[in-house]
Amino acid sequence: MTHPTILTGLRINSDFTLGNFLGALLPMVRLANSYSDRAEVNIFVPDLHSIISEIDGELQPNLIRSLKYYLAAGLNLTPKVHFYRQSRVPAHCELCWILNCVASMGDLNRMTQFKDKSDGKSSVNVGIFDYPVLMAADILLYDAVYIPVGEDQFQHIELARRLAEKFNKQYSEIFTLPATPQEQAKFMHTENGIRIRDLQNPEKKMSKSAASDHSKIMLSDDSQTVKKKIMSATTDSIGKIQYDMFNQPGISNLLQIEALTNDLPLQDVISTWSGETHYGDLKQKVATSVSALLEDFQTRLASIDDQTILDLLETGETYANQIANHKLHQAQAAFGLRA
Ligand code: TYM
Repeated sequence: MTHPTILTGLRINSDFTLGNFLGALLPMVRLANSYSDRAEVNIFVPDLHSIISEIDGELQPNLIRSLKYYLAAGLNLTPKVHFYRQSRVPAHCELCWILNCVASMGDLNRMTQFKDKSDGKSSVNVGIFDYPVLMAADILLYDAVYIPVGEDQFQHIELARRLAEKFNKQYSEIFTLPATPQEQAKFMHTENGIRIRDLQNPEKKMSKSAASDHSKIMLSDDSQTVKKKIMSATTDSIGKIQYDMFNQPGISNLLQIEALTNDLPLQDVISTWSGETHYGDLKQKVATSVSALLEDFQTRLASIDDQTILDLLETGETYANQIANHKLHQAQAAFGLRA
């Protein structure tokens, strides 16, 4: 395909973690900057996905701030970069309903994020269950092939592929299949996708909802806070630096953070540090890398005004509605909803 669409979105329920940044935002920015002469780059705010759960602060300021993040992370604006809000493109919900009639309960029951989010709760809203179908609509409306997301979202991309395949077979060949998770990982120059770990409990992914502040680095953290958190990260008692997610997840996480922060191949970072015995030296280096990245990011962020984003949304939403409505009409016609 000569002009694949690259697309991503980040929920805006609270400030983002370093996991969101290194797993999705920065890869998107780097890919957008390399491909925006050849590919459409769709960056949208999944605000309808945000309302499935509580929101820290107000939705509108969070929304504007989240789009500023892309610019602060170095995104170059070109006519092929499109910003839009999911809720301002009604085709997302309309296609979601059509895809609900293609998806099976079994498809959705298998989603591990649903299991995690509903675990132990006596009542769970339907939005949480149906969330991956709306995500499939977000992707399929634009024929998006590459979707820079963290590894935790790969199962949802697989579902989008499955729904597209089912629809194409049963009704009409209208949807482009997103790349497989393996192809997505390769496109993002990673082996199996990116999963940044909790600093205190590296068995788990770094998450906004972690109880301890020391588990996660937030994008608003200052250098001193970043240093404190990284210096107190859990490691192991093996005493030798090696990349081994199974036996040394804490050290491996730091190596991964160091590679992504400096845009270096993971293998290069592993070669530099393999066999070293002073965990403190690695922690110091990672703390310096992350602090420098965030300082630069925060300085740029402060210089971007709201109007820049509002202007981008205006043109982006005109574009998005045009593309999305065209695909939606094809899907409606395939179901007999339109002549
Ligand atoms: P969300 O808001 O849960 O997370 C936003 C992005 O951050 C990534 N991420 C991580 N990556 C690596 N390590 C971590 N510890 C980590 N934590 C979070 C997530 O994988 C994600 O890419 N469903 C999406 C939003 C969405 C979307 C879409 C994305 C809605 N529709 C269509 C792409 C295409 C979500 O809730 O991500």
